[in-house]
Amino acid sequence: MKVLVAEPISDEAVELMKKEGIEVDIKTDLSKEELISIIKDYEGLIVRSQIKVDKEILEAAKNLKIIGRAGVGVDNIDVETATQKGIVVVNAPGGNTISTAEHAIALMFAAARKIPQADRSLKEGKWDRKKFVGIELRGKTVGVIGLGRIGFEVAKRCKALEMNVIAYDPYVPAERAEKIGVKLVDFETLLRESDIITLHVPKTKETAGMIGKKEIEKMKDKVMIINAARGGLIDEVALYEALKSGKVYAVGIDVYEKEPPSPDNPLIKHENAITTPHIAASTEEAQLSVGMIVAEDIIRFAKGYPVNNAVNLPPIPQAEFEFIMPYVTLAEKMGKIAAARLGGVIRRVKVTARGKLADKNLEFITRAFLKGLLEDIVGKELNLISAKPVAIERGISIEESRIEVVEHYESLLEVNVISDGREMYLAGTCFGKEYRILKIDVYNVNFVPKGHYIISLHEDKPGVIGRVGTLFGKNNINIAGMIVGRCGEKPGGVQLMLLLVDDPPTKEVLEDMVKLDGIIDATYVYL
Ligand code: 3PG
Repeated sequence: MKVLVAEPISDEAVELMKKEGIEVDIKTDLSKEELISIIKDYEGLIVRSQIKVDKEILEAAKNLKIIGRAGVGVDNIDVETATQKGIVVVNAPGGNTISTAEHAIALMFAAARKIPQADRSLKEGKWDRKKFVGIELRGKTVGVIGLGRIGFEVAKRCKALEMNVIAYDPYVPAERAEKIGVKLVDFETLLRESDIITLHVPKTKETAGMIGKKEIEKMKDKVMIINAARGGLIDEVALYEALKSGKVYAVGIDVYEKEPPSPDNPLIKHENAITTPHIAASTEEAQLSVGMIVAEDIIRFAKGYPVNNAVNLPPIPQAEFEFIMPYVTLAEKMGKIAAARLGGVIRRVKVTARGKLADKNLEFITRAFLKGLLEDIVGKELNLISAKPVAIERGISIEESRIEVVEHYESLLEVNVISDGREMYLAGTCFGKEYRILKIDVYNVNFVPKGHYIISLHEDKPGVIGRVGTLFGKNNINIAGMIVGRCGEKPGGVQLMLLLVDDPPTKEVLEDMVKLDGIIDATYVYL
């Protein structure tokens, strides 16, 4: 696998990937045009927060399979388009938590005590002790917006500084906050009661612009605002105006609406704005950690193992992955059979896991079935990531069901597919790594689906199988195996025939087969 490292990551991470046989190119100063022109040569791309991996780049990335974000925020990556294209996006959650939390605290101290201004003044040869009177943090109320990993660590550190900590986060339970002596409050209360407000939320549709003129007006006079989370959470113009008027005492800002910000951005130039160039995660420790986390996932991906931190796939523990893997293969093959046998537009897919399989993660199994089902229509680029969004886009309703009871087997995988034309049922099971299809519609089959198959319905009467044998013999196609499934015990009616052949039949052979007396239909599928 060939990986492009497009933003600086730790040397250790690069070495680790190389040691595991990954070809790594480091090109960290590419323009967007340069990146577009070379990205087709890579299966892996590693970035941090500065490169915008947008639709244009993804369109050019013909061979890209995985994007590693050596950091937490993925708002610089068009994850939706990546998912549509079947590209896994992994990040490094947790790797830079402490560094970012410490930076937020550092900005708080720097803003409260005017440290950068005092430093500048001294460097200019001045000795001005009166100008740099600051405020203590102790006893102040700090409002933490977002009590996720980073917000939590910031809150803990603020507690250690003897601050009164309140937090707003609609997604965390009150117990998480109470555990560290933090009171969860609503947004309005936080705005009203905080002396210092620090943001620790990702930039999403809900959080973008969450602090604007209106919100600032509700804050205490001389409030301090810290943002080491994401640019765009705070309206920079409103923030500047509030700094200018004195409503806001000082700000500590590491992230900007546009990065790098324009050198004329008045916010950055304001005396009481402590600004840093998005360096909250730029510590030796954090970079080693995020680099290694992403490198490990790239290596896992290259080896065909499940990745640990996919943003667009559910996480699966290794032991569970080993259990479900044969079912993933089986499901894909079932999808191929359904695609070959069903006509019309597919409307609905229902995946049922019975027995031990019922308490496992079905996401990969369902996706694998959809892949097998749609691959011939959509193309070979369809994979476990893109299969589901593509199916949803095509209006297929997808359902998963779990039933603990199962007869005869430890686990059973069943799939019902409904198309405009008809409904199909498939069932199968796995024994360790071996997978078997047990039923196609009402017919018992029990076979390991591997190779070239002809699946056919025929009338249950003498001579039909002989005629099929003669036709294949005449066309020099060796029949390596045959299963004939009768529906019920009694002769007569319709039977299913499954032929395993050494070579794929031509269209003409299949047409001739359907013309044989007693044959109802015949479809070829490679499993
Ligand atoms: C993150 O989202 O992890 C931080 O903003 C760090 O970004 P960086 O990797 O560009 O330093």
